[in-house]
Amino acid sequence: MSNFSIQKGGTMPFYLGGKAMKPNSGLKVINKYTQEEFCTVPLADESHVEEATAIAATEGAKKMKALPPYVRQEILMNVAAEATKRRDEFAYYLAIEAGKPIADSRGEADRLIQTFQLAAEEATRIGGEYSSLEIAPRAKGYSSITKRVPIGPVSLISPFNFPLNLAAHKIAPAIAAGCPFVLKPASMTPLGALLLGEILAADPQMPPEGFSILPCSRQAGNILTTDERYKLMSFTGSPEVGFALKAKAGKKPVILELGGNAFCLIDDDDVGMATIVEEVVHGAFYQSGQSCISIQRLLVNDGIYDQFKAALVEKVKSLKMGDPMNEDTFIGPLINSGAADKVESWVKEAVDKGGNLLCGGVRSERNFVSPAVVENVPHDTDLARDEVFGPVVCLERYTDFKEAVELVNASKFGLQAGVYTNNWNKAHYAFDNIECGGVCINSVPSVRIDSQPYGGVKDSGIGREGPKFAIEDYTEIRVMVMKNAGKL
Ligand code: SIN
Repeated sequence: MSNFSIQKGGTMPFYLGGKAMKPNSGLKVINKYTQEEFCTVPLADESHVEEATAIAATEGAKKMKALPPYVRQEILMNVAAEATKRRDEFAYYLAIEAGKPIADSRGEADRLIQTFQLAAEEATRIGGEYSSLEIAPRAKGYSSITKRVPIGPVSLISPFNFPLNLAAHKIAPAIAAGCPFVLKPASMTPLGALLLGEILAADPQMPPEGFSILPCSRQAGNILTTDERYKLMSFTGSPEVGFALKAKAGKKPVILELGGNAFCLIDDDDVGMATIVEEVVHGAFYQSGQSCISIQRLLVNDGIYDQFKAALVEKVKSLKMGDPMNEDTFIGPLINSGAADKVESWVKEAVDKGGNLLCGGVRSERNFVSPAVVENVPHDTDLARDEVFGPVVCLERYTDFKEAVELVNASKFGLQAGVYTNNWNKAHYAFDNIECGGVCINSVPSVRIDSQPYGGVKDSGIGREGPKFAIEDYTEIRVMVMKNAGKL
């Protein structure tokens, strides 16, 4: 740890046009477990964000576009290699700034590495196609070829819950596509993104003008949304903020990765009850439920309900809560007191209206809430309808599979849903009919493999991430239309 970039009490720089700068120490990074200040980072003001935007729109756009694909690939592979060497450092900061248990923090550092590797693979595969255009006599002799060109400067806003990998999912495709970017990391968890900045800044192949990483207030970051020099904005966070930003984004396309209240249907236990319980408990409570695809609504077939309920509650009660730095901690603190207040009050409302609290839901100091299972939560409560983003799961029985699917579709969200069934037709019925970005068969909805298309419908957002899919958004098709090509 003594060789880590930032020590307790230090100040980690931000990156403006690729240059490390410490103009102030305006943002305190709090250790979410001890609640003490760990370090500070500078807070960019409007003039910094304006300068970063101007650099991205001029030299940044030119230099990033001019990079040959193999150089973009080398830059991305270099990030993956450096991050592999510094995996423990990434994980350490993450456990401190997010309160994420250290085992999960290492897992997220590994995902960051893989996301950069995936983007590196895609960087040299951005292709086009040849078409004959001879669709009618008037088009005789015409043909076309297409290529994808970088869309231009992109503004990126990443959240607190996966501060490494969700920053990676925005930055890596931008580099692969040849787009300069300005990233605003979440103010509560800026360190991981700034460490990526340090790695990029040390790479002689990366044009410094191609990137800025600027922690800033929403006010100072406004330009990332409104300014027409940005040709695309990608945001991950809450639906309220995401759709408010979209309304101010003008002509630029927006990618919104928003919330969810993920459903998991357990229709049969053919893959094994113990396996399902293990996976469900992980899917509902990993990193204290602070994931957009954390299971919030469990719908269980009447025939296996009682057995499942008993096993679920026993397992949840055994989860270890405590210091994120301990190897066996599974439940760490929530990100702040507002998050803990929300979980506490939503569980209370659910119980006041008739829900049956089977375990947990107890608030303790330093923003901990013990993992809760609430049965038969009335559907008109916040806990059933909205995104709790905390360690709570609602449990309910069903008898008719189609009605259970209708209940999933009654949600205003549509990110991912899980369905445990070995019935081939039910699996396809779910895939055909559940209105979500992803349907996970014999799996919890809380799984995201970083190469998959990831994103939602309805209040869960617009667009898909995953390097291959994000690169489509970060590039535009340009066509060359040719008449009588090759005719001598
Ligand atoms: C999210 O919270 O949407 C991200 C989930 C993940 O990347 O695993």
